[in-house]
Amino acid sequence: MKASAPGKIILFGEHAVVYGRPALAVPVTQIHADVEVLDAPRSGIWIDAPDINLHAELNTLPSDHPIASAIHNFLFISRLSPFPNLDIKIASSIPVASGLGSGAAVTVALVRGLSSHLKFPMSDEEVNSFAYEIEKLHHGTPSGIDNTVVTYAKPVYFVKGQPIEILRVAKPFTIVIGDTGISAPTKKSVGDVRKLWEADKAKWEVMFDQVADIAKKARAAIESGTSMDLGKLMNQNHALLQEMTVSSTRLDRLVSAARNAGALGAKLSGGGRGGNMIALVERDQAEDVARALKEAGAKNTIITVIA
Ligand code: PMV
Repeated sequence: MKASAPGKIILFGEHAVVYGRPALAVPVTQIHADVEVLDAPRSGIWIDAPDINLHAELNTLPSDHPIASAIHNFLFISRLSPFPNLDIKIASSIPVASGLGSGAAVTVALVRGLSSHLKFPMSDEEVNSFAYEIEKLHHGTPSGIDNTVVTYAKPVYFVKGQPIEILRVAKPFTIVIGDTGISAPTKKSVGDVRKLWEADKAKWEVMFDQVADIAKKARAAIESGTSMDLGKLMNQNHALLQEMTVSSTRLDRLVSAARNAGALGAKLSGGGRGGNMIALVERDQAEDVARALKEAGAKNTIITVIA
């Protein structure tokens, strides 16, 4: 049985979302994780994930390995006995540790592949909370935005702990994604922000409120189709992310390059420090902005239309 899950970008509100503020995220379907689950002719549960050079039987992996822990959790909740013999093939075109939701996408595709092959049906809500538990194991205090947008594969307005709200996109808009090529674990930047927040909560709560205000205005812009406003809001959000210490010289360089090449606005996306940035562009400027990003050192670019 085959299952697939998309990558994602956060448009607005990363980091503040961990502290209960709203954030906006959209799926990126050009990149995806694909999982195939088959009956194995030999005993055991065999995992083949060539992108991360993993070829192993489940029980030879440490139990806290992200893929192993997802399979163990699935076997636990589905109460299958005896355990089936399986071949699980995992492929992903989503770069790891770069803010594009690779971990969540692999978990969602994996649990959906297992659920349909082993005839243990799961609703989207169940898949989402399953993936959230795995995110918690590996990312400390995740907001849950990654697993939510990847599970539903729709633009979302997300507030931690609240029912998901699907964004209505009034007018499609184009985003260019630029990859710094630097992998930066989200756990680290989220942990650093937490230390700074603990040291001066009053200051950080004000910044988070400013981000919340931007996210709410962005939602209104998306739902009314006024993408010029969206560009300005991205720039404002990036300035706050810089203040939160989660940008980097490389991210700032790509953000400036995009703006200089005519983008309506640009910001880092996700945990920051490395990973990806995004730029809002008019459709006919997308190639120019992508080229400027490459010239400024982007390892890779993706043009995606949010509809
Ligand atoms: O997984 P990333 O790098 O897109 O970052 C997640 C966004 C954060 O707000 C920084 C963390 C979270 O759990 O929401």
